[in-house]
Amino acid sequence: MKVVFGCDHGGIVLKPEIISHLEKKGIEVIDVGAYDDSSSDYPVFGELAARAVQRGEADFGIVVCGTGIGISITANKVPGIRCALVHDTFSAHATREHNDANMLAMGARVIGAGLALDIIDIFLGTGFSGEERHQRRIDGITRVENEQ
Ligand code: RB5
Repeated sequence: MKVVFGCDHGGIVLKPEIISHLEKKGIEVIDVGAYDDSSSDYPVFGELAARAVQRGEADFGIVVCGTGIGISITANKVPGIRCALVHDTFSAHATREHNDANMLAMGARVIGAGLALDIIDIFLGTGFSGEERHQRRIDGITRVENEQ
């Protein structure tokens, strides 16, 4: 499995723990920045991570900013991306089972590393249910996306 990771200065506090956690599990990580805690703009890193998923260079994307909001909004502007903003373990598996989310966003000013790593493990370890009603709703998202 390959995961692309992106964050701004607001999310960088979680970056070392997330990347080393993924690598310890044998997951290859593409790091699109930010690379330091100087003030930066989340749309840059949200787009870079989302494009890597869109192009199929990564199976999943994980993005972190202060709240997770700005970077998830950005990622969701990229066609084909379903980026879920998640701060609890229930939503981590529900969004994979129901929405087939291909990106996970979290806020480093909202949750700590322990919960963030649990959420990542659940998100990456859960498959899409494949149930007709969920696929139909995902197709509905794609329809809206294609009408822009
Ligand atoms: C940066 O201060 C902060 O606005 C950003 O990390 C994020 O929380 C935006 O949604």
